[in-house]
Amino acid sequence: MQKTILIPGGAGYIGSHTAYLMQKLGYKIIILDKFIHNQKFDHNWATVIKADFADKNILEQIFTENNIEAVMHFAAFIEVGESVKKPKDFYENNVIKTLNLLDTMLKYNVKKFVFSSSCAVYGNPIKLPLDENHPTNPISPYGKNKLIVEFALQDYFNAYNLQYVSLRYFNAAGALPTIGLGEQHNPETHIIPLILRAIKNKKIFKIFGSNYNTPDKTCIRDYIHVLDIAQAHVLALKYLENTARSNIFNLGTGHGYSVKEMVEHAQKICKQELLIENCDARAGDVDILVANYNKAKENLGWEPKFSSLDNILQSALEWENRIK
Ligand SMILES: NC(=O)c1ccc[n+]([C@@H]2O[C@H](COP(=O)([O-])OP(=O)(O)OC[C@H]3O[C@@H](n4cnc5c(N)ncnc54)[C@H](O)[C@@H]3O)[C@@H](O)[C@H]2O)c1
Repeated sequence: MQKTILIPGGAGYIGSHTAYLMQKLGYKIIILDKFIHNQKFDHNWATVIKADFADKNILEQIFTENNIEAVMHFAAFIEVGESVKKPKDFYENNVIKTLNLLDTMLKYNVKKFVFSSSCAVYGNPIKLPLDENHPTNPISPYGKNKLIVEFALQDYFNAYNLQYVSLRYFNAAGALPTIGLGEQHNPETHIIPLILRAIKNKKIFKIFGSNYNTPDKTCIRDYIHVLDIAQAHVLALKYLENTARSNIFNLGTGHGYSVKEMVEHAQKICKQELLIENCDARAGDVDILVANYNKAKENLGWEPKFSSLDNILQSALEWENRIK
């Protein structure tokens, strides 16, 4: 039977790009996703099952009928602010359902897992750039969800030899417009689509916070192209296949851009001015998040290749123009 990768959340932004790369390598792809954004996904290179990834019957059927080599798990609620308002929903979707998924994997003796973690596990940086040994003090329920799953993974590896790679993404950005893949969050809270839509529709773009401890007073983030993240999953699976180890890796570029710098670049690329409103800072937003990715480089042979700001913005712009 063909080697199959099960991808909960594979119809989402990062999962769909990863699914695309994995099928190109010859794997059969099963996407299990309940389409919380009502997003479009009409690609024939994956089997798509529209369901909750906690649906036991569906999981049992998938594991019984396929030769599952690994699970790459993207399904989660992702909005940090919402997690503060609705922690119960977030713990249920992001933690409890993930533990159920791991238990089904154990039942069917599937022991390779790649997990979408986040730089939100670190909380307020004590030292920059952030490496994986930086203390983890998440300040949102969302960040805590990710860290709890990482702790569970450590214990499941030690006790049951369920091998994992946890990838702590910084800010995913960019798209693969020619393949028909890009960001489709609803509501959209990510800066690049919001800037591009504001420029296009001549709407106001809100900058949250202009008193951060950064050179231009707006906060700084590390933007990593979604294709670089997808490529890291390919290498993470190789790592699981070629070693008996489990590990945690940051995925970022090591370089940060402020909100103002992002606005300036976007204006240049779109050749249009943006209307700006300066608003209060949002609770929980830290000044600077920038990754040290040396560990992924040394262990996975991974380096960001597509993450220049021009490439990120150009591909995101092309995607925005296609979906409208
Ligand atoms: N986007 C980023 O910058 C970023 C940064 C760090 C970590 N992450 C993590 O990466 C993963 C993917 O993020 P994304 O930006 O692609 O998000 P996304 O919302 O586009 O994709 C997540 C997908 O999971 C699905 N989903 C959620 N709960 C589900 C459930 N119970 N059953 C079935 N499907 C369910 C959604 O329908 C969606 O298609 C998430 O785990 C997120 O926490 C994202």
